[in-house]
Amino acid sequence: MKKIVIAITILTGVFAYGETMDEYLQRLAAQAKKENPSFGGFSVERGREIYFSKHIGKRGKEVSCASCHTEDLRQSGENIFTGKKIKPLSPSVNPKRFVNVKKVKKWLRRNFKDVYKREGTAQEKGDVLLFMRSN
Ligand code: HEC
Repeated sequence: MKKIVIAITILTGVFAYGETMDEYLQRLAAQAKKENPSFGGFSVERGREIYFSKHIGKRGKEVSCASCHTEDLRQSGENIFTGKKIKPLSPSVNPKRFVNVKKVKKWLRRNFKDVYKREGTAQEKGDVLLFMRSN
């Protein structure tokens, strides 16, 4: 029994680690469709709205994704809470972006909470990823 549990743990580990960005997006799309049967694919336009719209977020501050990542994704940003520099999000100038799915998931979860005070839905995550990757 213990061996089976260990094998399953290793297998899920390999699976989660091995997921590519495209597989992750496909999985988000399947989930979005489940949550909303009229879902017809991710949208750069909706993603732009998610990225730029301001909300009362962390510490009661009015913030958007652009507050830390700037309005031009090819520019370096700055964490408005810690003052730390953030490398550009745009894959056109920073090829390290949107390749490490684990990292993408971790920061989407955190950053949605910073701005929206909740986790993003599958559709919101897919929309904003599409927007960010295309900039
Ligand atoms: C309070 C500042 C802050 C805000 C607001 C913020 N982010 Fe971030 N974001 C960060 C930091 C810090 C990192 C991690 C450092 C790094 O990757 O350079 C990060 C990393 C990311 C990454 C990882 C990308 C990769 O592949 O390396 C994604 C995706 C992301 N942010 C999306 C968003 C989205 C979408 C929003 C709006 C919902 C948002 N961020 C708002 C600070 C912020």
